[in-house]
Amino acid sequence: MNCPQEWPEPIVRVQSLADNGGSTIPDRYVKPPMERPLSSTVATDMDIPLIDLAGLLGREEIDGEPSLGQISKACREWGFFQVINHGVKGELMDRAREVWREFFHLPMEVKQKYANSPKTYEGYGSRLGVEKGAILDWSDYYFLHYLPCELKDHNKWPAQPPYHREVMEEYLGEVEKLCSRLMKILAINLGLEENRLRDAFGGENAGLCLRVNFYPKCPQPDLTFGLSPHSDPGGLTVLLPDPGVPGLQVRTHDKWVTVKPSPHAFIVNIGDQIQVLSNAIYKSVEHRVIVNPNVERVSLALFYNPNGDLPIEPIKELLSSENPAVYQPMTFNEYRLYIRSRGPRGKSQVESLKNSPTRQA
Ligand code: OGA
Ligand code: NI
Repeated sequence: MNCPQEWPEPIVRVQSLADNGGSTIPDRYVKPPMERPLSSTVATDMDIPLIDLAGLLGREEIDGEPSLGQISKACREWGFFQVINHGVKGELMDRAREVWREFFHLPMEVKQKYANSPKTYEGYGSRLGVEKGAILDWSDYYFLHYLPCELKDHNKWPAQPPYHREVMEEYLGEVEKLCSRLMKILAINLGLEENRLRDAFGGENAGLCLRVNFYPKCPQPDLTFGLSPHSDPGGLTVLLPDPGVPGLQVRTHDKWVTVKPSPHAFIVNIGDQIQVLSNAIYKSVEHRVIVNPNVERVSLALFYNPNGDLPIEPIKELLSSENPAVYQPMTFNEYRLYIRSRGPRGKSQVESLKNSPTRQA
């Protein structure tokens, strides 16, 4: 499987469409009637779990901490939770979001210098997937690598605004620490040695990349999505939402729940690779983003991923004759290529890795 070097069609910046101020959106963004935001049930009386990490951080002895059990339940049942008292300063979170807002409000010719291609996706982009004629999502984004070190290329990061790099280095360093802590907690909750999941990711050679999503105002929000339903292909996602602008919806059974961001909380979710490593004990859950007519929205999604060359398969300690492996090994590089050729498409992606039904428990 190979990814093309260029996009199949000329790229249109969604922000330019929004800035033109038209009252309708182009057909390219209109979803078929059965796939629109209001064609499925939205549960208004629910939210994803909110978990306070204060008792887990900076402690040697975490046995018996109630939040351990809360995280375990959230990973198994929701695949999503919000965390507060996570160790990253609120002020740094706000600065990180605002430097990106500033970037997206730079003149188009400045941003175009960073235009990306489907080869690596790094830079300023406006579509996921390379299928010609695909219906597109109402968002632009910026994608960059932070780890492993050899993939980080500051030339591919915005040079403006001037303090951008400094703020982002600090932010990414802090969120990386949070990811490491969460990985330990997830491993302990599976009954594994605390470094087991991190080691399966390749330890120091694990990957960390950022996608900043920019969702411009949309004159017809009922016809499209900011981001179509998908599960995250990587390991663990730590999302910084835009306070006061709901948009993320998480699937629970046959309903969608709109996440109400708590002040200075991160939204954490399990990605496909941890679903595979945990042999489906932890769930990588479908989610989507709705847009709205009055306000733009900026979110920072940090993806903590296995090193691209390692085969990812269910961890042996979790298997038994009653619980055989439900997935075949596959490297993250191979998996990502497959995802990137298709764009966001529900949960079919990790399911297609499953062993044939006769081999399942
Ligand atoms: C993503 C994602 C949600 C959001 O970037 O994969 O699901 O609220 N983002 O922007
Ligand atoms: Ni996502």
